[in-house]
Amino acid sequence: MRGGNKSPTPSLTLLLIIFYTFSTNARFIPPDNYLIDCGSPQNTILDDGRTFKSDPQSVSFLSTDENIFATSNTLPENTSLPLYKTARIFNSESVYKFLVYQPGRHFLRLYFYPLHHPDYNLTTAVFSVKTEGLTLLHDFSASQNSHFKEYIVNVTNDNFLLTFSPLKKSFAFVNGIEFVSAPNELVPESATALSPPGVFSGVLGCDLQVVHRVNVGGPNITPKNDTLSRTWVSDSHGYMMFPKGNKVVVVDPSGVKYPVGGATPLIAPNSVYSSAASMADSGVSVPNFNLTWEMNVDPGFNYLIRLHFCDVVSASLNSLYFNVYVNGLTGVSGLDLSSLTSGLAMAYYKDFVVNASSVSNGVIRVQVGPSDLESTTPNAILNGLEIMKMSNSAGSLDGLFSSGSNSPGGSKRVTRTVAEAAGIAIGVVMLIVLIFSLVRRKNKARGWDEGGNSFTSWFLPLNASYCSSLLSSKSKSKNGYSSVLFSKVGLSRSFSFNELRDATKNFDESAVIGVGGFGKVYIGEIEEGTKLAIKRGNPRSSQGINEFQTEIELLSKLRHRHLVSLIGYCDENNEMILVYEYMENGPLRDHLYGSKPALPSLTWKQRLEISIGAARGLHYLHTGGSSHGIIHRDVKTTNILLDDNFVAKVSDFGLSKTGPTLDQTHVSTAVKGSFGYLDPEYFRRQQLTDKSDVYSFGVVLFEILCARPALDPTLPREQVNLAEWAMHKQRKGVIESIVDPKIVKSISSESLIKYVEAAEKCLAEYGVDRPSMGDVLWNLEFALQLQDASMQLDPPEEDDDTCKGKKMKMVASESMKKDEMKKNSDSDVSILINDDSGVVMGSPLFSKMEDIEGR
Ligand SMILES: *[C@@H]1O[C@H](CO)[C@@H](O)[C@H](O)[C@H]1NC(C)=O
Ligand SMILES: *[C@@H]1O[C@H](CO)[C@@H](O)[C@H](O)[C@H]1NC(C)=O
Ligand SMILES: *[C@@H]1O[C@H](CO)[C@@H](O)[C@H](O)[C@H]1NC(C)=O
Ligand SMILES: *[C@@H]1O[C@H](CO)[C@@H](O)[C@H](O)[C@H]1NC(C)=O
Ligand SMILES: *[C@@H]1O[C@H](CO)[C@@H](O)[C@H](O)[C@H]1NC(C)=O
Ligand SMILES: *[C@@H]1O[C@H](CO)[C@@H](O)[C@H](O)[C@H]1NC(C)=O
Repeated sequence: MRGGNKSPTPSLTLLLIIFYTFSTNARFIPPDNYLIDCGSPQNTILDDGRTFKSDPQSVSFLSTDENIFATSNTLPENTSLPLYKTARIFNSESVYKFLVYQPGRHFLRLYFYPLHHPDYNLTTAVFSVKTEGLTLLHDFSASQNSHFKEYIVNVTNDNFLLTFSPLKKSFAFVNGIEFVSAPNELVPESATALSPPGVFSGVLGCDLQVVHRVNVGGPNITPKNDTLSRTWVSDSHGYMMFPKGNKVVVVDPSGVKYPVGGATPLIAPNSVYSSAASMADSGVSVPNFNLTWEMNVDPGFNYLIRLHFCDVVSASLNSLYFNVYVNGLTGVSGLDLSSLTSGLAMAYYKDFVVNASSVSNGVIRVQVGPSDLESTTPNAILNGLEIMKMSNSAGSLDGLFSSGSNSPGGSKRVTRTVAEAAGIAIGVVMLIVLIFSLVRRKNKARGWDEGGNSFTSWFLPLNASYCSSLLSSKSKSKNGYSSVLFSKVGLSRSFSFNELRDATKNFDESAVIGVGGFGKVYIGEIEEGTKLAIKRGNPRSSQGINEFQTEIELLSKLRHRHLVSLIGYCDENNEMILVYEYMENGPLRDHLYGSKPALPSLTWKQRLEISIGAARGLHYLHTGGSSHGIIHRDVKTTNILLDDNFVAKVSDFGLSKTGPTLDQTHVSTAVKGSFGYLDPEYFRRQQLTDKSDVYSFGVVLFEILCARPALDPTLPREQVNLAEWAMHKQRKGVIESIVDPKIVKSISSESLIKYVEAAEKCLAEYGVDRPSMGDVLWNLEFALQLQDASMQLDPPEEDDDTCKGKKMKMVASESMKKDEMKKNSDSDVSILINDDSGVVMGSPLFSKMEDIEGR
């Protein structure tokens, strides 16, 4: 029994991880993906490649057995969308039920075009469309309204019920339905409130209807060209109020960059950010006007307004400052994209909520205008614009009715509730059946996609065929499971087991380059001599499985020059193998001590550069990689690897944890990590924060400086623990006495002071007293600059004697502002150096002229 259960577990868990990962990856594969061409006798493939299922062939998911269809070959003038060629007509209330694979935000897109039918005049149809607790359309009539409605609804149940209710004596119809998972990140937790000004934090509790989505300055973007099959219309459709004042700026979309932690291609594709409206005449006369867009909306609702910006107009940073207004209310004054994104052509977006009382006239007016008229080129831009209606407290997006109160009759409501309850029960059963089928019928699962006529097929997401082919081909190795799966999560390739076995000479012991909790790491060589590091998990270790999953999950989301990259993966024959870029120079530790034969000693400058690289990698982990940072938990010199150019990269994320969310201050967890590097506070309180990594990094810094292990039991007792020993020496002011003798003479004392100061702060007893990785990074960069400066002052060959005995002191360092340091590295910085001769120099750090004069 046990053995039987064991093998499916990893694949099911993996499957779940993969769906989780999709939601954070740039290429989003929706877990729920129902596309229906209502009334169409056959499936319909759109030009964007999506297949809409024919619904007459399979009506069992619909709570009606009426089959009334309208068909026409004439399409509305402004579209060639084949969905508009057919419609299903409902004479009585009818419900579509969709099994929800993953709760959360979903797009719901409905198509209504009144086709010709001999018995029904569709332009006269009046009906409501509802889901549980939410009215989407109330007494809607397609004739006078737009033919396409798009919603972003928050689905919390296992079932999504879409109800069409005709008005008495009327009927309802629909041409097409899309019910598709949306990335949750699409909807913000909060937005800037305009009246009264503040933060509006209730967005998650609202369902949204997208009423306008505009690609400002650019062309229409069709679902084919959007990352989430959205439609963006060009603002040449009359949204712009004063087109003469508008100058369109367009750049190549591939030049648009997405900043880490900011906008993503899912928020808006680069073709939205690559075009902008800007102010005509800017730079010629002094323009003093606003660029203005006006859009009609239904009064009586709050609106979420998302504005997209990307500075494709400025020639240099910090030259564009403008104000943003919505309905005359100031949204932002002096918006400075340069400082928000630290770059040009960087995508940025901002959300506002405008209160119903400010849209009483049914118009939303968005304006941008220069805030700094003194500037040489006053200008203002806008790249894209989305207006979303927010559901009201009665749960409605149309009229002021709640979904319950306008139901057409009490008794009907009761039957509906019973029907819904039954539906939910069936849904739950189906979900369980689904999971069991996934797990047990791995090899028979083919053909779900062909089962278009069966009841079950409609309860499965349409991409079930995708899952089943993954599972069924798992045993078929090469192009199966892993390749499909991992190409989706952004990993470049899957490897067959044979390929990796050949690459490592059958996992020969001579190919082992490392051993960890997870298993062994081998060097492998594949075609054209490409070297790989191949980490083979021990399938029997449950720790292994967890670490394997953590690592895939994290690494597929992280990309950074100072983090080791995951190249691919293999899970054939119950193996768990990860394939990484090979790091030619191996672990940092081997270059410090203990390797046999001993490797050439690293210079002080190399050591500084390596510590800076590792600090950058950790800083990115803590701040950049995900919404709340990642804590590495096992920072040590064996997990910092060096490539052929001695660039440091942090590796081994097997123990890593997602950091605390905003309202938490720590993550509680069993203590893991390596002795000698463990944060004492974490050890005592078992509360993990990113400051635990900072502590471990402090130990690493001393290890680099002193070239000895963090723990060395062979030494006298007070020296065993490096952190304690180094702090002891530092307090006594004799840190030089334990510095690696190979470098002690070449270190400038200013550089040493700065470096040790950084390391010392990292080792503070309490996490709150330790600096952030960003601060550590800056101090290390400073130490490097000090070293560089001293090498200009004292060329290394004379270094040995001149440096000795000098007591140099940094006076200005503390008061120097970080950004000043970065910006004006070649000006005004004045540092006093007191040495024996008492010479005081201005800017000795950076000016070669001064060097010559001073000597
Ligand atoms: C459908 O109804 C509309 C509005 O009542 C009317 O103008 C139109 O002529 C009707 N069409 C047909 C085919 O009867
Ligand atoms: C056609 O254009 C009208 C007005 O511009 C719009 O209301 C309608 O939704 C469009 N129809 C389709 C099918 O896109
Ligand atoms: C969905 O609604 C629930 C309950 O109101 C809320 O906790 C959750 O954050 C919402 N999710 C999204 C993605 O909006
Ligand atoms: C849309 O994508 C196609 C390729 O899929 C490309 O040829 C076309 O130029 C794109 N159109 C726009 C407006 O970006
Ligand atoms: C721009 O619009 C805002 C808000 O409507 C208004 O207060 C401001 O005066 C306008 N600026 C100019 C130069 O018209
Ligand atoms: C809308 O504005 C009114 C008056 O300014 C205020 O009392 C109310 O709280 C606002 N509503 C929201 C949802 O911000």
